[in-house]
Amino acid sequence: MPYRDDFGRAIHYLRVSVTDRCNLRCVYCMPGEGIEKQSHADILRYEELEQILRIAAELGINKVRLTGGEPLVRLGLVDFVRRVAAIPGIDDLSLTTNGTLLARHASALAEAGLQRVNISLDTLRPERFAQITRLGRLEDVWAGLEAARAAGLKPIKMNMVVVRGLNDDEVSDFARRTLSDGWHVRFIELMPIGANVEWAFSRVVPVAEIAARIEAEVGSLQPVHGPTGNGPARYYQLPGAAGTIGFIAALSDHFCSSCNRLRLTADGRLRPCLMSEEEIDLRGPLRAGASDQELKELLTRAIQRKPQRHHLDRTLGPQDRTMAQIGG
Ligand code: GTP
Ligand code: 5AD
Ligand code: SF4
Repeated sequence: MPYRDDFGRAIHYLRVSVTDRCNLRCVYCMPGEGIEKQSHADILRYEELEQILRIAAELGINKVRLTGGEPLVRLGLVDFVRRVAAIPGIDDLSLTTNGTLLARHASALAEAGLQRVNISLDTLRPERFAQITRLGRLEDVWAGLEAARAAGLKPIKMNMVVVRGLNDDEVSDFARRTLSDGWHVRFIELMPIGANVEWAFSRVVPVAEIAARIEAEVGSLQPVHGPTGNGPARYYQLPGAAGTIGFIAALSDHFCSSCNRLRLTADGRLRPCLMSEEEIDLRGPLRAGASDQELKELLTRAIQRKPQRHHLDRTLGPQDRTMAQIGG
């Protein structure tokens, strides 16, 4: 039975950032020079993460997503996936990645027990991809997507953060991929977190506007159940499409009342809410020899500390860490 917070929400989904490092520098996520990296000693070791995940599973966490930064830049991830997949009670193990290193790792990840991947992709145009990510090559993502498919990772979702003036002219091109290639595409509203303060609010494209654009340029959207997932997306489908269109309305329609998740940062802090700077330190107690029972109490405290909702309509999001440090 999952643990419930003070507002009756069942918390059964843990997003684990395994590294704050990333091989890209997306303009809305990080400054061009990158962010100050945490040292290896700061980052939880895989054994420590495994212990936390085992305890979390005993508390009813059954969905685990590995994130970053870019999780695939951390060495040894495949072995770690194998160990997490073996923890009793975890029945959905997924990864959020920028896809650029997936060609190298997809088949080993699937074999180790990873079930599915979400791939961040903000443009279908090679030059623009280089411009948005500062360091990336679109062809690496295509190779990664192909490898993920061949490895049987399923469903695969493509996450597009829509930014006005940057890539919003490609919304319909992404939507058409649900028809031509059976993609599951999700459109995400830009959140005012970390590196994009100067874009806060002014560059956000509300999902209602994205949906209206798709309906005008491609076809009507029918609500559907959507592919396997635990996140806040609401799903629709174009007539005749094999794929789906999801909307993550982080600002315009906050989904806090159905929040089901906790986050763990790479340096071992539990974040009860993406939008709040509050953190509960697990690393200190863990390294000081805390018992499983004590760690369990810290996890339940983090669940109890979940706020009822965020107030991005009035205030900025957290500025203490970038999205790459929190894990998206
Ligand atoms: P599924 O299980 O496949 O539904 O995954 P997911 O949508 O939970 O994971 P993913 O890493 O693909 O997340 C996509 C985006 O959803 C994140 O990067 C965030 O932008 C947004 N998101 C996820 N959880 C939250 C949340 O608690 N609050 C807000 N505001 N946004 C969130
Ligand atoms: N707002 C919304 N989504 C963001 N991501 C990174 N920064 C932001 C932001 N400020 C997305 C990435 C990826 C996911 C993990 O988070 O593009 O899809
Ligand atoms: Fe890396 Fe993702 Fe941030 Fe881009 S959005 S820099 S891929 S962590």
